[in-house]
Amino acid sequence: MQEVFQVTAQGLQAPHLQACERGFHYGDGFFTTALVVEGAILNWSAHLRRLRNSAQRLGFAATLAQIETLSQQIAQAYQQLASVEAAMVLKIMIARGCGGRGYAPPLCENATILLQWSSAPFHWSMNAVTHAPMASMICQTPISISPALAGIKHFNRLENVLARAELDSLGLSEGVMLDVHQHCICGTQSNLVLIEGDALVTPSLHKSGVEGTSRYALSQWAQAFGYQWQETEIDLKRLQQADELFFINAVRGIQPVAKLEDRVFATEQGMSLQSLWWPQMQRAALKLGECP
Ligand SMILES: Cc1ncc(COP(=O)(O)O)c(C=O)c1O
Repeated sequence: MQEVFQVTAQGLQAPHLQACERGFHYGDGFFTTALVVEGAILNWSAHLRRLRNSAQRLGFAATLAQIETLSQQIAQAYQQLASVEAAMVLKIMIARGCGGRGYAPPLCENATILLQWSSAPFHWSMNAVTHAPMASMICQTPISISPALAGIKHFNRLENVLARAELDSLGLSEGVMLDVHQHCICGTQSNLVLIEGDALVTPSLHKSGVEGTSRYALSQWAQAFGYQWQETEIDLKRLQQADELFFINAVRGIQPVAKLEDRVFATEQGMSLQSLWWPQMQRAALKLGECP
C-alpha cells in the first residue's frame, strides 16, 4: 500500500506539488521516517525533536509552529487511510515551498508538508520483528564532510543513493560509509554502533551523517540496557576490532552484523539488544487515537 496526503491550511488534501518547489530545485527540505505499529508512532518524541532541530538549523521559522501540531494531522490522515496494516512506514517530508530569489530563501516560507504512508518492509508479529544477523561491506562512495548540515536528515541524499546502488549490485542490504579521511560515519540508511566491552560506541556526527532518532533513543537507554554510551571518531582499525557491530534505524530497529568484508563478528549482544528494543520503542510510542 502507499497513500500520500498534503497538509494544507484547508486541511489534508491529495498532494499537489508545484514546479517552483524549492525542495526540487535545491533539495531545500528535510524529512523523517517513522514506524507506525498498531496505530502508534514509535519513538515520536525523537522524530519531533529532529524535525524541530532541522527546521531551526535550516531557518524554516514559520514551519516550527506547524511541526508542533503535526501529530494532529497525522492522526487525521491515519483515520482516512483506505487500508491499515499492523506495521506501516510514515515518511514526513517538509520542503520550503516556492519563493525567494535563486538560492536566497523567501522571508516567510510556505512549506510543503507531505505525509506518505506505506507498508513496512517486513512482517510484524508478536509485537516485534526479528532481523537475522547480516553480511555487510565497506562502501566505496565517501560521505561528505559538511558541518553546516551534519546531523540533519535533509533532502540531499545522493551519496546514500550511490552507496545503496553498490550494495544492491552485491545483494547486500546495508554497508558502512566512510568520509574522505577513512573515518566510519554511518550505514547507507542507518547509524552504526560498535560494542566494545561494556560500551556502545558510535561515530560522532559533528561533521557528517544523520543523527538518527533510534541512535538518540539508544543513547538515552544505553545505561538501562547495561552499557556506557560513547560518541567518538572511529577509524577502520577500530571498527574491525570491535566485539560486535550493528546498524540501527527507525524502521528496522537493531540489525546485528555477522560479517563485514572478511571479518566475522559475534552477534549475541546485538541480538539480545534487538529483543529489548521493540518493547522499549512501544513504551515510547504516540498512540494516534490519543493525539492532543
Ligand atoms: C543516512 C541515514 N543515517 C541514519 C539514519 C537513521 O535514522 P533513524 O534512526 O531516524 O531512522 C537514516 C535513516 O534512514 C539514514 O538514512
